[in-house]
Amino acid sequence: MTYALERFTREVRAAITATGRVPAEAIELATPKPNIPADLALPTFRAAKALGVPAPQLAAELAAAIRPGPDTLIGTVEAVGPFLNFSLHPQRLAAAVVSEIQARGAAYGHHQIGAGRRVVVDYSAPNIARRMHVGHIRSTIIGQSLVHILRALGYSVIGDNHLGDWGTQFGTVIASIKRYGRPQAEGEAAMEQLELLYARYNNEMKAQEQERERAVVEGRPLPVFDPDLEAEARRWSLALERGDPEARAIWQWCVDLTLAAAQRNYDRLGVVFDHAYGESFYEPMLADAIDEALRSGAAFRDADGSVVAELDNLPRFIIQRNDGGTVYMTRDIATVKFRLQTFNPVKIIYVVDGRQELHFRQLFAIVRAMGYARDVELVHIPFGIVTTPDGQPLSTRKGNMVYLESLLDEAVARARAVVEQKNPDLSEAEKAAVAEAVGVGAVIYNDLYQDPRRNISLDWERMLSTEGNSATYLQYSHARCCSILRRANEDGGVGPEGADPTLLTHPAETRLIKHLARLPEATPEAGTRYAPFVIAEWCYATAREFGVFFEQCPVLKAETPGLRAARLALVAATARALRNGLALLGIAAPERM
Ligand code: ARG
Repeated sequence: MTYALERFTREVRAAITATGRVPAEAIELATPKPNIPADLALPTFRAAKALGVPAPQLAAELAAAIRPGPDTLIGTVEAVGPFLNFSLHPQRLAAAVVSEIQARGAAYGHHQIGAGRRVVVDYSAPNIARRMHVGHIRSTIIGQSLVHILRALGYSVIGDNHLGDWGTQFGTVIASIKRYGRPQAEGEAAMEQLELLYARYNNEMKAQEQERERAVVEGRPLPVFDPDLEAEARRWSLALERGDPEARAIWQWCVDLTLAAAQRNYDRLGVVFDHAYGESFYEPMLADAIDEALRSGAAFRDADGSVVAELDNLPRFIIQRNDGGTVYMTRDIATVKFRLQTFNPVKIIYVVDGRQELHFRQLFAIVRAMGYARDVELVHIPFGIVTTPDGQPLSTRKGNMVYLESLLDEAVARARAVVEQKNPDLSEAEKAAVAEAVGVGAVIYNDLYQDPRRNISLDWERMLSTEGNSATYLQYSHARCCSILRRANEDGGVGPEGADPTLLTHPAETRLIKHLARLPEATPEAGTRYAPFVIAEWCYATAREFGVFFEQCPVLKAETPGLRAARLALVAATARALRNGLALLGIAAPERM
């Protein structure tokens, strides 16, 4: 099945071709500017030049030659100067769009263009023994929306949470747990305690280091510490790498604790992964990866014994330290290889902080130099930072960092106030459920409504506004549609069943219908540009058009029962399409608010 606007474009092409005056390859259609009352235009300059006639003359001739038939979506054809303007037939468009939405339901806006092709999306990727901060929140939310969008395009999508669960810092984490004992808490509180243990250990370690340095300066014999904290941390790090059971057990306990805390947030955000292999999974594949990098000539052994690469004029980088240890990059190389072999994808998409841009350029360069991913697209989707409303970056050092669980809790508490004010009559359980959907939705939308590269601010006023560009406003518009449909059901008048959408000829109706028709265009655009904001903008524009329609066109009290039925069908179609758009963003659409 082709969507209405695709069909319209095809019909316009066919009509132009049928005149025999413009060859198919010269038909380059354009979208007229918003102030032009047309839906598609053919600028005739090129064809006119080829024919040796003035463009306005050709446009006029074409307009006279084209007679759109009654079974097309073309309403009028008109020459305006050198342009040949085509307008949609409002009634036929209404009939087509309303019935498409009814027929496709939850799949309205979806396509099959990715069918038979696989994409891996690497997202979220928090670090073990650390709370998920705003950076990981952005990755989680943008990544999940891209997963939804790519699935809607028919791709087979593998979502992989590349947990930061490996590296020398875990020696320190284990040593600190051995020294101070395991935290007794859960969720974010437990993670916070782990962070504190780590920091405390580091401070003690630094104090020992300073004492050693002082001894050197003052010419005293080196102090002997028992335990020597740095040696301890190194010992645990080695033990872990060698698979020592105790080290492994404590590490596993940290992994489980972190994942349990993360899972609560993932559940609230509707985030679901296919895999969470994590960096540790690749440990057994690292020696091979380093060997291969050396053999292929992508990397070389430096004078100091480390293995490094220098590719494509990028700064030199290490893949093996001179003590034999591996790094983040080494694991990423092994990860690419594993993903290519296991999933055979056409693309691997990394949704990671913009500050890792260089890391990914280096990674892509080295795997290509090793002969991998020849015809696989490797894409890094960078995103900007999160700031306070007045533009101050959030940072752990400044002490104003925001963590995911507390962020969601605060959002929901604030949303609760909005719900109390908008709809005090809801039951307690419903208020709680709506507040959760609105609060979480506000956080998600804040990450998605603009280009991911831009910084976002945590401005609650804007995020929970019932009138501006916010999830709350979109959810509210959807709930309003649902409420109209509920009332129609209760007042005994005609319902949307068997409606005749060709009665929808009011300009506000036509504009709303045209917006609904555009969701199937927005989805592929969002997918190609890795841009959930294209969907967000579609949702916002649609909600605004719905607002205008609602103001200008009485629904329940429409002039005739037929018109009431048609408007109800339009309201139902709007609800459905908005719900689909919100679903692509990962935002819930409650029926009451
Ligand atoms: N855990 C890393 C961090 O917090 C992000 C990992 C991103 N994914 C990857 N394949 N490198 O910085």
